[in-house]
Amino acid sequence: MDRYELGDILLGRDVIRNKVKELAQELSLYYKDKPVHVIGVLKGSVIFLSDLIREMDAKVHMKLDFLSVSSYGASTKSSGVVKINKDLDESVVNKNLLIVEDIVDTGLTLQYLVNILKERSPKEIKICSLLDKPERRVVDLKADFCGFTIPDEFVVGYGLDYGGYWRNLPDIHVLRKVN
Ligand code: IMP
Repeated sequence: MDRYELGDILLGRDVIRNKVKELAQELSLYYKDKPVHVIGVLKGSVIFLSDLIREMDAKVHMKLDFLSVSSYGASTKSSGVVKINKDLDESVVNKNLLIVEDIVDTGLTLQYLVNILKERSPKEIKICSLLDKPERRVVDLKADFCGFTIPDEFVVGYGLDYGGYWRNLPDIHVLRKVN
């Protein structure tokens, strides 16, 4: 297995904080007059999600639920295999869903999630992702609300991990291969 170490900061905490505020404003406007059922995709989205919803207008009528899907494990490449490890607690029938993700990479995870959620008859499904790596996309999927477009680099921090580590870092770093 390849070994990696923490590389340079790609997005610092202040830049992230400002972008999260901007996204929260956009979302507050969009959900001004309609209740939203926010779905956090565990575990990568939790730091972003908790900052995001606290920056949103308190008048927005929202509920929070979580899904857990299998990730890459200790690899930086998508296996294309997505499995639900923890399903939602509540029904989504006729609700306005906002899926909150850390990153859209190949797009396979979100495409799969959107497809299974569609079968449960929600009113609407929107996607909010902090990061987007468009160069790696293998399916036609775009987040409706997106923070940063980043180059094809594996990144960790602010919720994003490698093998479960580095989620706690306040900045987003590039992962560097150790030779
Ligand atoms: P996708 O299915 O390829 O779009 O990948 C989605 C998931 O892969 C994300 O929710 C992350 O958990 C993980 N992932 C993709 N790229 C990165 C990265 O650069 N750093 C950490 N996790 C990543």
